[in-house]
Amino acid sequence: MPRITFIEPDGTVRTVEAAHDESAMQAAKRNGIDGIIGECGGSCICATCHCHVDQAWLTRVGPAGDIEADVLEFEATDVRPESRLACQIPITDALAGLVLHVVGRSR
Ligand code: FES
Repeated sequence: MPRITFIEPDGTVRTVEAAHDESAMQAAKRNGIDGIIGECGGSCICATCHCHVDQAWLTRVGPAGDIEADVLEFEATDVRPESRLACQIPITDALAGLVLHVVGRSR
């Protein structure tokens, strides 16, 4: 199972195992990562799973899709070029070692 690391809003570093093909949001929720709420259950409408992708992983993770970018624009705070919604990042072996900085709840 790929391991991914979340940096919680208070700076706590937590590395968890993600099941294949679950989203980063699901892995975070299953492991009680602080700041990942996942209010919409992964439907890409709430932005309560907003993270900043670590710079070292930007290319591999890729940018937000059009709908995701709209949700970030209208629902999230502290939006940056590296912003992604964790529910829209399916975890695969290629993302083993991924680092996500949790932004926290949307406004
Ligand atoms: S869980 Fe709602 S947008 Fe990700």
